[in-house]
Amino acid sequence: MKSQWQNNSSDQYKELMAEALRAAENSYSPYSGYRVGAAILAADGRIFSGCNVENADIGGTICAERTAAVKAVSAGCLEFIACAVACPTDVSCCPCGICRQFLNEFNSDLTIITREGPTGLRTIVLSALLPQNMLV
Ligand code: THU
Repeated sequence: MKSQWQNNSSDQYKELMAEALRAAENSYSPYSGYRVGAAILAADGRIFSGCNVENADIGGTICAERTAAVKAVSAGCLEFIACAVACPTDVSCCPCGICRQFLNEFNSDLTIITREGPTGLRTIVLSALLPQNMLV
């Protein structure tokens, strides 16, 4: 099957990725050592960022994408346009299954942005990462 990822390093996406990488600096990840940051661009132009927050009861861990989404919703923002996700030491960090489902609650057409190699970015629509989801 043809890849649905697209290379896209627009300035807006670069800015969002920079926010995601900044958020990763606050990652609380003593168990995995895997720092992740995410930044969500809202329809009104606001950006909500977050990091992964781990727990000794590993199931209690919250991914960076959900931290960012929960911050947005808590601020009264439900319209998400794009979400950048990044691990500073890994070029291929991509939302897990729970985060795909969680983000799908707000926009199945959300643009997911990840890093492509050391400097590039690539995008994919959330529905391509979560086909045949519960809401269709
Ligand atoms: N993690 C995220 O925060 N987002 C992702 O997209 C992938 C995984 C976190 C969860 C856990 O704290 C660590 O990375 C290792 O899986």
